[in-house]
Amino acid sequence: MDHPANSTLTAARLVRLLGPPDPGVPAYRWLADTLRGLVTDGLVLHGTRLPSERALVAELGLSRTTVTRAYAALRERGYAEARQGSGTRAALPGGPVTGGGEPLPDVVPGRPAPSDAIDLTSAAPPAIPGLAMAYVRAAESVARYVSGMGYYPYGLPSLRAVLAQRFTERGLATDPEQIIVTTGALESAAVAARALLGPGRRIAVETPTYPGLLAAVRPEASRVVPVPVSAEGIDPASWHSALASSGAQVASVIADFQNPTGNLLDAQARQELGRAWRAYDVVGLIDETLVDVVLDPVELPPPMAAFAPRTVTVGGVSKSMWGGLRIGWIRASRELLPGLARARLSLGLGAPVLEQLVVEDWLTGDWGAANIEHLQRIRQQRDVLLEAVRTALPEWACVVPTGGLSLWWHLPRSRSTVLAQRARDEGLLLPPGSVFAASGRGLEPWIRTPYVLQAETLRVAVDRLARAWARAA
Ligand SMILES: Cc1ncc(COP(=O)(O)O)c(C=O)c1O
Repeated sequence: MDHPANSTLTAARLVRLLGPPDPGVPAYRWLADTLRGLVTDGLVLHGTRLPSERALVAELGLSRTTVTRAYAALRERGYAEARQGSGTRAALPGGPVTGGGEPLPDVVPGRPAPSDAIDLTSAAPPAIPGLAMAYVRAAESVARYVSGMGYYPYGLPSLRAVLAQRFTERGLATDPEQIIVTTGALESAAVAARALLGPGRRIAVETPTYPGLLAAVRPEASRVVPVPVSAEGIDPASWHSALASSGAQVASVIADFQNPTGNLLDAQARQELGRAWRAYDVVGLIDETLVDVVLDPVELPPPMAAFAPRTVTVGGVSKSMWGGLRIGWIRASRELLPGLARARLSLGLGAPVLEQLVVEDWLTGDWGAANIEHLQRIRQQRDVLLEAVRTALPEWACVVPTGGLSLWWHLPRSRSTVLAQRARDEGLLLPPGSVFAASGRGLEPWIRTPYVLQAETLRVAVDRLARAWARAA
């Protein structure tokens, strides 16, 4: 997506995106329908200036009447707008709907944020290009299911098989019955917590961690035991002492591009962690939500569950496809399945069929190019954010993550809460470090900045961040 809204699409680039004409339909219809598909798929963004009719005629080798008719058809259906003096622009009927970030606890007291505030509380990217067409195809295949009841509490059998196959390919042999499909990784964590915890049971959780995960497990645990983790990785000694002293029965980690630190545990760290869990007979709760957000060439170790036999792994598509799909899964060792199945049924009767079909369509389709584009965009945003913060705030330090969606900055002074308050005044929303603490406080010298917004927005965000820091420090 190298032509963000308000940029110009050249005729040559559009012709490459359009591909060869379809001789089976009138040329104007082919042009209008294919261009509409590019707009609904996010490959040509709302607001992009389309090539002039004359330029497109020259590049496509079609007649002027054909191009004029196609543009008129697009305008009629709301997929293009003619603007006085600035040609024709691509449009989504009704305009794009932004926002919809995952809610993190609102812990920044003070005045309400200005209406043009930039929201850095959420680390969820917009949809992968091409997703809208996967919905169209899934809507066609849902017809095969409507004569049945439509309840699949553990997931569509075909999707469970695809997900099991993916685990097996990553080095963790998995049968489809070891998979339960859910409405998101967070629901998966809530199901796992209900199955594994309960009165008198404790969970050891790395700190910092993703606050949503904490919110999902805390109501089921009699105690949350924090275990420190850093952007350099885990310290096996901390795990041994936390497990020995707390008697926790469950241990939770985000092994792949940890949220917020970005750390990817290497095979040796996984082995050591697995050894500690076995020594204290704990069940591992592993969150793999970010595993597909690989930004630099790194070798991914086998899944953490391959190093520890008694584990529940949770994952989902919100970071690799789109949060709006609300599809996640659980992969568990066999002995844990009956408890998980009961917990699953106590929380709901399954995920929607249509969305499961969208995910299956995507995972079995030829979407390599769209995945690369999605990740390239995120990588570019990471690099823009990194460069901007390093330039504006040279005393801040972070370990550059090779994947995931956020930078975890070490501040030269313990002022994270004040910084978050000042940032709000400057029109920038971001949670203080304490939101990521398993104990709910501390981490004052830390702040998380996700890189899911467009590069230009991130640059403005860093200007505001620098102003806020000048007032906070
Ligand atoms: C580590 C982690 N787990 C789970 C989630 C939420 O996943 P889902 O949208 O699939 O419920 C997030 C979202 O930011 C996350 O970072």
